[in-house]
Amino acid sequence: MTETTPARGSVALVTGGTGGFGRALAGLLRERDVTVVLADLDSEANRQTAEGLGAHFVALDVTDRAANAAAVAQVEAEHGRLDAAFLNAGIAGQARDELDVDEFLRVVDVDLFGVVYGTEAVLPALRRAGRGSIVVTASLAGLSPMATDPGYSVAKGGAVAFVRSMAPRLATEEITISAICPGFADTAIIDPLREEFDAAGFPVLTAVEVAEAMIAAWAGAEPGAAYVVQPGVGAVPYKFKGVPAARTASGETAVVPEALRPPSMR
Ligand SMILES: NC(=O)c1ccc[n+]([C@@H]2O[C@H](COP(=O)([O-])OP(=O)(O)OC[C@H]3O[C@@H](n4cnc5c(N)ncnc54)[C@H](O)[C@@H]3O)[C@@H](O)[C@H]2O)c1
Repeated sequence: MTETTPARGSVALVTGGTGGFGRALAGLLRERDVTVVLADLDSEANRQTAEGLGAHFVALDVTDRAANAAAVAQVEAEHGRLDAAFLNAGIAGQARDELDVDEFLRVVDVDLFGVVYGTEAVLPALRRAGRGSIVVTASLAGLSPMATDPGYSVAKGGAVAFVRSMAPRLATEEITISAICPGFADTAIIDPLREEFDAAGFPVLTAVEVAEAMIAAWAGAEPGAAYVVQPGVGAVPYKFKGVPAARTASGETAVVPEALRPPSMR
């Protein structure tokens, strides 16, 4: 990532903002004089968390499509603009040994559709700002599926595919969308596994390490990139292998039809 510092006075929205990554990110962004709006489920505790961080709060359930648009409208009304959106809200499945389809659907609703609705909601505001950045918190599970959590793996893999699919058309509008794919990190989401990590001496990231990667992605991500964040490794772009291209009857590499490219790339 070619990092530049986000401009002072920028406005950033963080979904799942009062959770572990959101709090760490808010702290780092406030140090850079960024106006931070933390969007999370409506509770007094979440409001107070935001206030304690010098951030603003907007109540948002990311699975509610209309509520995403309303949250962005509130940000623009109160702060005049939106420069960056961190689509970070997420939950993990708990049923480790069997397929629980109800849970699968809940996880996909938050972790994948929350990202799609969030993107839909923030794009008009980023366009009005003239440029912008969307950073999606996916997961290592989106690149290397977790055998114990199919819903999470599908949702995060879908989020990575969504980012890669959206990036080319947005890049022509100076809007960068990218994903970060952290390994296990020290937040509430790993509480059910914490003792097992401790017992195995398994290293986990700090929330600040992940938040630093999120800021770097805002400031300098390659469009469509997915940055792996791992303990002792830092943030590195994942190299996608690609697939074998189709061959014509004469053995040439087939050219993808124009209709399959975004209008700006035809
Ligand atoms: N901690 C890890 O090991 C790890 C690793 C890779 C990816 N992630 C991802 O990072 C993101 C942030 O998680 P975290 O580690 O800070 O965990 P966390 O549990 O501390 O934070 C998650 C936040 O999302 C919020 N949230 C849940 N459902 C929501 C909804 N429907 N609408 C709005 N907000 C909702 C929660 O209230 C919470 O504040 C998630 O997408 C998670 O999947 C976490």
